[in-house]
Amino acid sequence: MTPLYQILLMPLTVSVAAHIVPRWVSEAVAIVDLAVNKGQPQHLASGVIYGIPDEPDQIPDKFYTEAGLHWFRAGGAQMGAPNRGWSWGEMEQRWESTLSNYRTARKYGGKFQLLLHDLWGTDFTDESRMWPGDNGDWSDYDQFLNVIIQRIIDNNMIAGMHIDIWNEPEWGFWKRPQAQWLDLFGRTFRRFRDDPVLGQLQIIGPSLSLPPNASNTWWTNFLAYVAANNTAPDHYSWHHIEALDNPDNDLQNSLVTFEKLREAAGAPKKLININEYLNLGDELNPAATVWHLSRFERYDIPGLRANWRGGDNGSHLRDFLASLLWRDDKSLPYHPNGDWQALKYYATNMTGYRAGTTGSSDRLFDAYATVGQDKVRVLTGVRVKTGTWALTIKNLGAAGLPSSGQMAIQTWGFTYKIPETELAAPTDRGVAVHQYSNDEITIAIYHTEEDWKTAWAFELNPV
Ligand SMILES: *[C@@H]1O[C@H](CO)[C@@H](O)[C@H](O)[C@H]1NC(C)=O
Ligand SMILES: *[C@@H]1O[C@H](CO)[C@@H](O)[C@H](O)[C@H]1NC(C)=O
Ligand SMILES: *[C@@H]1O[C@H](CO)[C@@H](O)[C@H](O)[C@H]1NC(C)=O
Ligand SMILES: *[C@@H]1O[C@H](CO)[C@@H](O)[C@H](O)[C@H]1NC(C)=O
Repeated sequence: MTPLYQILLMPLTVSVAAHIVPRWVSEAVAIVDLAVNKGQPQHLASGVIYGIPDEPDQIPDKFYTEAGLHWFRAGGAQMGAPNRGWSWGEMEQRWESTLSNYRTARKYGGKFQLLLHDLWGTDFTDESRMWPGDNGDWSDYDQFLNVIIQRIIDNNMIAGMHIDIWNEPEWGFWKRPQAQWLDLFGRTFRRFRDDPVLGQLQIIGPSLSLPPNASNTWWTNFLAYVAANNTAPDHYSWHHIEALDNPDNDLQNSLVTFEKLREAAGAPKKLININEYLNLGDELNPAATVWHLSRFERYDIPGLRANWRGGDNGSHLRDFLASLLWRDDKSLPYHPNGDWQALKYYATNMTGYRAGTTGSSDRLFDAYATVGQDKVRVLTGVRVKTGTWALTIKNLGAAGLPSSGQMAIQTWGFTYKIPETELAAPTDRGVAVHQYSNDEITIAIYHTEEDWKTAWAFELNPV
């Protein structure tokens, strides 16, 4: 594969360019602008939902720290009887899991989104049972909140804590009318915000499964409700886990729609948090991970990796850091996959300042770039399609690089087969020397059948 890749990574001198037709269309070009300084990297996409084992220190520290994980989200999900949550009178183990996961998050200085719906037990509770607010009766839910609040206080779970009011009500984790959920949202917000001890805790929601859309009443009614009720969360949240061909399922579009809907509703501006990203049918691979993280970095919005691993009693869900690691059985050490290696490179190698970027206009190819003391690094990903794209890096002089000459580009490949496949280190795809001029350089990016799940890192070294 290395020789093929190198041959395809053709130098583009002016004279050569006159003779070759670029093998990409103009909609397929992503741009890195080194003259734009977007500030220090914070690796905004280094978040996971669930994925932390119940047992403290089960996963070695380096798997958290080297991937820069700093956003976590859990609530003891998917435990079967006798641990189905509050609504079954079975909350204890779910609470223990939540507390343990919170402590793990804090061990790494992380921020933690507490999933109330898991503690309540929505994953095992069907229509036939009592739900919060049924027949206008909130007494059981109020008692639930009182217990959770007292435990948060008793265990000093305040630093880094975020309260996620109710995850994905419209997807199936709420089995009552929408209006009853809105009522729950307002009540829960007020219970926390008005609490004498926990009033400062950050509140997050609505955590809808579907991104904002003008014809989705879960969104429009939610925004109208929080505007009128004065209960807008500190972080508006939604998920990017839909089909790839759904244009709403792209931060570039969903942010625009969200701002329009928010303004139309008169709801206040707040932070945004995408607390589940990656459609795990298609996007469980470094190519898609890097495509998403490029967008999170462009728009300065945090994202948390989706995780639908399940397993007996949720044992795989609450392990493997949301499909970044694997081991065949408990007697073996954990090993990382290509997604973990990509996040490691993103978090530990991409130092300096973040450059400006523009994704390709076909919305399939994107890039994240940093200008380090030592070199410029670019990480690229395609949203899991084969084909040819191109990367232009411009204003090279702004990063102290010559405006013309020869550039040796080192390529690393973050490969992937299935989540269980180990990748011990990024694959070395060699160095290609390119002629360039006009203070910019363009290289072709090939996503062959072999490499359609691969993310690439490019390191620039002037010759
Ligand atoms: C919203 O959803 C409708 C119906 O599914 C779709 O036609 C439309 O393109 C979506 N996007 C926006 C921004 O309204
Ligand atoms: C907000 O909603 C709650 C719960 O439904 C209700 O008790 C309260 O009166 C509402 N407040 C405002 C200002 O609308
Ligand atoms: C499910 O997991 C919880 C937490 O680890 C544990 O306490 C419980 O015994 C498990 N239940 C079964 C049936 O394995
Ligand atoms: C990333 O940085 C580490 C630490 O400096 C270094 O050992 C490693 O070789 C770098 N990885 C790549 C792919 O350059």
